Amino acid sequence: MIDLKPVKGTRDFYPPQLRLRNWLFSAWRKSAQQAGFEEYDSCILEHEALYIRKAGDEISQQLYNFEDNSARRLSLRPEMTPSLARMILQKQKTLSYPVRWFSIPQCFRYERMTRGRKREHYQWNLDVIGEPTILAELEIISTLIRSLNELGLDSQDFRIFINDRRILNAMLEQLNVPQNLQNSVLVILDKRDKLSADVLCSELSNKGLSNIQTTKLIQFLESPNFEAVAEQLENQNVLNELKSILDQFQKIGLGTYLEFDISIVRGLSYYTGTVFEVNTLNKSSRAISGGGRYDSLLSAYGGPVIPAVGFGFGDVVILEILEESKKLPDLKQVLDLVIFALDSKQDEIAMRLAHQLRNAGLSVQAQFGPMKMQKALQQANNLGVAYAIFCLPDELDRNEVVIRDLNNREQKAHSLANITDLSWMGNA
Ligand code: HAM
Repeated sequence: MIDLKPVKGTRDFYPPQLRLRNWLFSAWRKSAQQAGFEEYDSCILEHEALYIRKAGDEISQQLYNFEDNSARRLSLRPEMTPSLARMILQKQKTLSYPVRWFSIPQCFRYERMTRGRKREHYQWNLDVIGEPTILAELEIISTLIRSLNELGLDSQDFRIFINDRRILNAMLEQLNVPQNLQNSVLVILDKRDKLSADVLCSELSNKGLSNIQTTKLIQFLESPNFEAVAEQLENQNVLNELKSILDQFQKIGLGTYLEFDISIVRGLSYYTGTVFEVNTLNKSSRAISGGGRYDSLLSAYGGPVIPAVGFGFGDVVILEILEESKKLPDLKQVLDLVIFALDSKQDEIAMRLAHQLRNAGLSVQAQFGPMKMQKALQQANNLGVAYAIFCLPDELDRNEVVIRDLNNREQKAHSLANITDLSWMGNA
C-alpha cells in the first residue's frame, strides 16, 4: 500500500494553505524590494561539504544527504547562507558591494518535530554582504521590523532580542576557555533549554570545561540587563557596537522593537558578532526569525574575508502565531467573475465569452452545463466573486447575457456586442 500522507515532517499545500503562503511570501518580497534588495536563488541540492563544521553545529547532523551515482556527497539544503556564500565567492570580483540580496528557499532538516519545527520549511533570507559597519545591521533589522509590520504585527506583538557573540567570547576568554573551543562551547550552550542540566554539564565537560566554568557561564547568560552584563565583564570594548546599534535604533524611532538579551547565543557556529532572534514578548514560541553577523564564513570556504549580516525567517512559526492570534487574512481565490452555461448547448458561447473577458484583463472561471440556477448561485457565492454571468437561451437569442452583481444581488441583461468594454462593472 502506498502511503497517501505526505512524508513525515513535510506539508502538502492545498489551495487555501498556498494562498496564505503566497500572501506571506509577497509581504516578504515587498519588504525586501522596498529596501532595495534583489532576489536570487540556487538549487535545492548542494555539496554536503558546505554544511560540515568543526564546531558540531546541530544542522550538520540533520542533513538529508546522500551519494549520487558518481559518488558525489550531496545534501538537500538545510539553510541558504552557505549557498549564498558560494554564489558570492564565484562572482566576487564582478559584484558591487555591499551586495543586498534576498531569497525564499525551501530548506530541509531532519529535526525532532515540535511546535514550530518541521522537516521542511520555507525561509526568507535577507543578507547584506561586504559592509563591515553597523549600517548593515541597521538595514537588515529595520527591514525585518517592516516585514513584521506588513504582516500586521507591531511592538505589542514581537521583539528583536539582540546580543553580540563578541560579548560571549569575552566572557569565555575571561573564564580561560581556549579560543579554539569557544565556538563549540557556544553551540552547546545554545541547546541548554533542550538538554537536561546533567547532559549539558557532561557535553561541556567533554569540551574540557569544569563545573565552575559551566556554572559561571550559565549564570552569565541569565544576567537580567545590560548593566549586569557590563559589571561582570573585564573587557568593556566588546559592548560598544551593540550599544551603538541600540542607540541608532532609538534615533530612527524603532528603539521599542529591540531588547538586549545576553541569553541569545544562536546555534550556528559561523556567527562572529551581532546575533538576534525575533520572538513574542514573552518568548512563547520558537524563534520567528534569527540571524546575525558572519564575517568569516566566506573566508572559511577559501575566499577572502568579506563581512556579512543577514537573517532567516521561516514560514512555519509566523503562520502559527498569526493563526493563534486570529491575524491571518481571509483570502479568497483571485477571480473577478464566473460564467455559467446552465445547459451544455451554451458551453461554447460561455467558453468564447470567457476567452474574450480574459483578454480584456479579467480573471474568469467558466462553469459548464448542465447545472441548476440555484447550484450556480451557490457556487458563485462560495467563490466570493463580485459578478456572475449567465448564458441563458432566451437572452442569447437576443444576443445578450445576464450579468448578476453578487454584492447587491441585482441582475441585468447586457448585450454581447460591447461586453468587453467592461462598462457593466460597478453598475450591473
Ligand atoms: P536558523 O536560526 O537556523 O538560521 O533559521 C532561521 C529561521 O528559520 C528560524 O528562526 C525559523 O523561523 C526557521 N526554521 C529553521 N528551522 C526550521 C524548521 N525545522 N522548521 C520550521 N522553521 C524553521 C539560519 O538558517 C541562518 N542561515 C539564517 C541566516 C541568514 N543567518 C544569516 N543569514
